Amino acid sequence: MKIDKCIKEVERDSRVISRACRIPYFPLVVESIKGSIVKDIDGNEYIDLLSSAGSINVGGANEKVKKSIIEQVNKYVHYTPGYLYNKPMIDLAEKLVKITPGEFPKRVAFGLSGSDANDGAVKFARAYTGKSSIISFIGAYHGVTYGSMSMSAITTKMKRKLGPFLPGIYSFSYPNCYRCNYGKKEGCCNLECLNQIQIAFDSYLPSDEVAAVIIEPIQGDAGLIIPPKRYMKKLYELCAENGILFISEEVQQGFGRTGKWFGIENFDLIPDAVILGKSMGGGLPLSAIVGREEIMQSLDPPAHIFTTAANPVCCSSAVSTINIISEDGFLKHVNEVGNFAKNYLNNLKDECSIIGDVRGVGLSIGVELVKDKISKEKNIKGALKICYRCYEKGVILICLNGNVLRIQPPLIITKDEMFKALEIIKSSIEDYLQGNIPDEVLNTIKGW
Ligand SMILES: Cc1ncc(COP(=O)(O)O)c(C=O)c1O
Repeated sequence: MKIDKCIKEVERDSRVISRACRIPYFPLVVESIKGSIVKDIDGNEYIDLLSSAGSINVGGANEKVKKSIIEQVNKYVHYTPGYLYNKPMIDLAEKLVKITPGEFPKRVAFGLSGSDANDGAVKFARAYTGKSSIISFIGAYHGVTYGSMSMSAITTKMKRKLGPFLPGIYSFSYPNCYRCNYGKKEGCCNLECLNQIQIAFDSYLPSDEVAAVIIEPIQGDAGLIIPPKRYMKKLYELCAENGILFISEEVQQGFGRTGKWFGIENFDLIPDAVILGKSMGGGLPLSAIVGREEIMQSLDPPAHIFTTAANPVCCSSAVSTINIISEDGFLKHVNEVGNFAKNYLNNLKDECSIIGDVRGVGLSIGVELVKDKISKEKNIKGALKICYRCYEKGVILICLNGNVLRIQPPLIITKDEMFKALEIIKSSIEDYLQGNIPDEVLNTIKGW
């Protein structure tokens, strides 16, 4: 594998880009993308299992998306929706109110990133309810603006040196059945994690001062943790009983990722609002909050205007992306390839000493690596080494929360490509177990 040109560019990059802006993985400089295959500037090809951190669900160079972008660019690139109107934005908003869960009147507020949409959700929730407290979850990653970071509780590394954060944010345990904080076995508990919220309501957090619960329907960066259905139902009921808005944070799990349009649909719940980003723009910067009309009309302008939000090029790209996901058979394909991958990985788990857990819905699959299955001690070095070996063998794979392999390819990945990638993961795990991946790779691949 020749990577001379990549190395040169990475060296240039390291002299001018802030280290706060990149998580070190591999020296891969992207030249082009075709389907699920990424090509680097040295001509090496990789099967992409990362899909630009879940932001190119229909691929990073989808022909239909490219066409809609070019058509719009040929007309004009931007005029701010803060003052004038643009048709792609209205087209998109109409689509969003239709595809998001809930048959009630809704409105949309656009932004540029998942982070700002999370901030917006806090603003709308506070304005509508007249209450200030927000419930979020340990393990959550909501972004890097001050509001979204205040609700994030995944690693102190991202919060160090930055406080004080937004007041009124309370983070509770997310139900992680593989690593239950309360020592319970999956399916044999009394939802002790949920009970912590009730304890808080009884002791220090007046429930009538809580504006919203903001929750990822599958906790992404924490390691693709899937909450039990009964937890989500009870949490939803708790919100309803206490007049608290239930907001689904769909930045990572939305737009077909879980084999349904939105992650929350896996739980048959209708949220008051959804927070959208990443793949919505088909790879271009775009975010939105879509919620009940009365919530979304509760703020006065300019409380949530960004000069370059709802850019017509991004909105055209988003409309095209939604049309592709709406095509017959698209979500069925996501489920089929996802089930195929999960079966493969579950079989691998049975024969492999370091795979502690395989979990996922659709094409959002996590493979948790441990030192052994009894202690469940996180195998962070192993995960990094395996990701690096996968890169050397032609697969882009990263880990979440230290030790969870993140399998989130573009949703258009073929079954053959997925099989090839899984075989490479398997052989990379074998290389690791045989001690064939040198420690030196850890100088390059570092993760969070
Ligand atoms: C669940 C979730 N919410 C919010 C964000 C932040 O989105 P952005 O990076 O577009 O600001 C991310 C990014 O990884 C995410 O995974």
